[in-house]
Amino acid sequence: MSIIYNEKERIFKLDTSGASYIMGIEEKLGHLVHIYYGKKLRGMGSPVPLPVINPVNKLWFMDGNPMEYPAKGCGDFRQHCIEIETKEGYTALEPVYVSHSIYEGKPKLKGLPATFAKDDECSTLEIVLYDKPSKVEVVLLYSVFDKLDVITRSVRVNNKGTDAVYLKKVLSACLDMANQDYEMITLSGAWGRERDIVRRKITRGRNGVYSERGVSGHQENPFMAIVTPETTQSVGEVYAMNFVYSGNHEAVCELTNSNMVRMVMGINPYKFSWKLEKDGEFTAPEVVMVHSSEGLGGMTRTFHDLYRKHLIRGKYCNIKRPVLINNWEATYFNFDTEKLLDIARQASKVGIEMLVVDDGWFGNRYDDNRALGDWFVNEDKIKGGLQYLVSEVNKLGMKFGMWFEPEMVCPDSELFRAHPDWAFSIPGRNAAFQRNQMVLDITRKEVRDYIVESMSKVLKSGNVEYIKWDMNRALTDVASTELPCDRQGEIYHRYVLGVYELQDRITTEFPHILLENCSSGGGRYDPGMLYYSPQIWCSDNAEAIDRLTIQEGTALVYPLSTMGAHVTDCPNHCVGRITPFETRGIVALAGTFGYELDVTKISEEERNMIPHQIAMYHKYNDIVREGDYYRLASYSENGVYDSYMVVSKDKSEALVTYVSVRTVAGYPDPVIKLAGLVEDKIYHVDVLDRDVPGDVLMNYGLPVLHEHGDYKARLYYLKSN
Ligand code: GLA
Repeated sequence: MSIIYNEKERIFKLDTSGASYIMGIEEKLGHLVHIYYGKKLRGMGSPVPLPVINPVNKLWFMDGNPMEYPAKGCGDFRQHCIEIETKEGYTALEPVYVSHSIYEGKPKLKGLPATFAKDDECSTLEIVLYDKPSKVEVVLLYSVFDKLDVITRSVRVNNKGTDAVYLKKVLSACLDMANQDYEMITLSGAWGRERDIVRRKITRGRNGVYSERGVSGHQENPFMAIVTPETTQSVGEVYAMNFVYSGNHEAVCELTNSNMVRMVMGINPYKFSWKLEKDGEFTAPEVVMVHSSEGLGGMTRTFHDLYRKHLIRGKYCNIKRPVLINNWEATYFNFDTEKLLDIARQASKVGIEMLVVDDGWFGNRYDDNRALGDWFVNEDKIKGGLQYLVSEVNKLGMKFGMWFEPEMVCPDSELFRAHPDWAFSIPGRNAAFQRNQMVLDITRKEVRDYIVESMSKVLKSGNVEYIKWDMNRALTDVASTELPCDRQGEIYHRYVLGVYELQDRITTEFPHILLENCSSGGGRYDPGMLYYSPQIWCSDNAEAIDRLTIQEGTALVYPLSTMGAHVTDCPNHCVGRITPFETRGIVALAGTFGYELDVTKISEEERNMIPHQIAMYHKYNDIVREGDYYRLASYSENGVYDSYMVVSKDKSEALVTYVSVRTVAGYPDPVIKLAGLVEDKIYHVDVLDRDVPGDVLMNYGLPVLHEHGDYKARLYYLKSN
């Protein structure tokens, strides 16, 4: 059992594959105090005696001691995790230990995405805390994965009293530690340059990232790691948190006056308030905590393994995805059946396996100013109807997929004209638009039912095998006509629950459909979404060189199998850069792989390269999808070249990607030290046509072949005998 309770010492010890997590129950008042998280410790006790409260100096204890789940109002003045308000307006809360239980397996979180595990893969500890004056019960959940360095956390809050209580803040995890000169890493970005790896020193006060946009957002991914200063890809202590949630989030790291670091993560308290009636319960979404004492690379591989085996579900989770061609950058809104079939005919000749019709196939959608919400086929464009188009595509031996943006409505739409109150807006206030669209109030059941029914009707009318689920604006003017005043604070969270319910209903009704999430590119790239879709469109910026940085940041946490990556046309539509077709293919091979260009218009020479690229996809995708990822060099750090590799789980094969971004005079050709191989195995390196031992490749390195000119890329495939 990976969870032990030492009754004599009142200590809980949670052991993952490489770490121990220790907490204890303070003997006077029953506060749960945090003791240790780090490299695995032997034994069953605490490395230090448990602190005891001296009642005449309770504040010293509360404000200086590492706490497990701090509340507000009773002496802990640091960043807190939970806050309530009673009917009298009282807000103080002091939940103390009542009982606990330990069991095998992992419970589901009602209505929420979460990691899952079989009973023999994971054990769970539930600690019940209680605040007597408010009659609020707080249950802390810790699930420990035996074979991974992972502990997941969640919190349940119950109102055991008779009067309603308002939950004003409920974060999902807290970690208190003595500062080791820690630095903080976040994935911060923007549209077109999502998930930049940002590393900074933790300074006095509160450091953090957040979203108040209703979605996880382009700007700050719900991820934070604190690392010791020497941390690189292969050395250093890493404590990471990732939030399995797709709405407003907050991650704060506070450096206190006593040189302690407190890291917390959960639902952003901005405009959050949840009314708990008598016996009411609220479940806070899951935070995944990953520890690595082998640097960032160790952390990355743990996240990848966890998400591939214990989060992503469905038919496509562990198999190759069809190589798709998406018409967005090929045609934008300007297409009809004939144009789509032209693309499909040419695409099928070069081996592309699926046609995806992006935005513009429905209602009056001739540009991005109208028709969202009208999920019926525009037969002026799709002449002959959807069934005809799909069957013609199928006849070419290709699958068919399509785009939806289900959570939205345009004022110029049949849906809005029929139900103007279905869009978020505040009476008397001009609603804010983006792309001339508004957000549907999917906290309302009839709105969710409309979405599911209208989508289902389309999906059933042809053999649709893929959906791109888009979401192109943040939430504003958040108000619901259905909720009373004292429940308006529930809307942001109810919205996210609504998204989860919608995706659950669609994927349950159409289990064969491959779902790809998207939000103006990668604006909702989070583990919550991965529970419903095995892949997410990484960024609208599919330019190969910019993608090196975007994919590096994304892959720091999320598996390569989830990264939507396409070959696009040049000059690139986002940034105008011109790169070799070959390089664009090699960079896209690090993700799900596909095309987003007009295959009928590109040069003959480029078109002729497609069959070879697809053959590489089929040859290498098993390693890319399932293997261990190692970041070898970062163009965003060295400004010259980029390199990463993936090693098959049995270490018999590996694929190294090298991209020479800039040719620098007088710069020696890189010799790249590989990683993750077996020292005494001999690997045949295809490009060099040489047999090289693993220890040579990892210690001396792989001399990459220099090519004159910028933006050249090469793959090196290694196979052991
Ligand atoms: C978003 C997506 C794009 C494309 C357009 C269509 O921006 O990220 O890939 O689907 O919407 O409007």
